[in-house]
Amino acid sequence: MTRRVIDHPVLGPAARRSRVTILFAGEPVEAFAGEPVAAALLAAGVRVFRTTSKRREPRQLFCGIGRCTDCVMIVDGQPNVRTCVTAVREGMRVEVQHGRGVWERGRGEAALSGSSRLRTGSRAADSREGTAGGTARPAARAERATDGPEESA
Ligand code: FES
Repeated sequence: MTRRVIDHPVLGPAARRSRVTILFAGEPVEAFAGEPVAAALLAAGVRVFRTTSKRREPRQLFCGIGRCTDCVMIVDGQPNVRTCVTAVREGMRVEVQHGRGVWERGRGEAALSGSSRLRTGSRAADSREGTAGGTARPAARAERATDGPEESA
């Protein structure tokens, strides 16, 4: 059963797109080529993408734009992949991430260069912006704190 909107009352019917198959916990999941991993998993009924480190609470999609990290999963052996901004690839292996996740044995920096993220920026560019693997909130707070003297009422 699919949870996709096939014929939207306002937007009309979904466009025909080629399909790929990804593996979620070893099981095949049909996806549209180029769509985010999170979208494919939601359509397939997956409701837990990761669990938190301390309380083991389930998490899933929250912001949907690559800022909150609630959707991180282990993708092709690489933990902390934001699935809402990562495009599916044929044969991609996706696993639920528990806590901080663990790297698949033998994976390293080479895995980072093969990322299929939807955004056009590079991981290095993200690091410069202070957003790699997290949000920009701490940096934004720091900027506000140093903007100068506070205005008095
Ligand atoms: S849902 Fe927030 S980063 Fe993916």
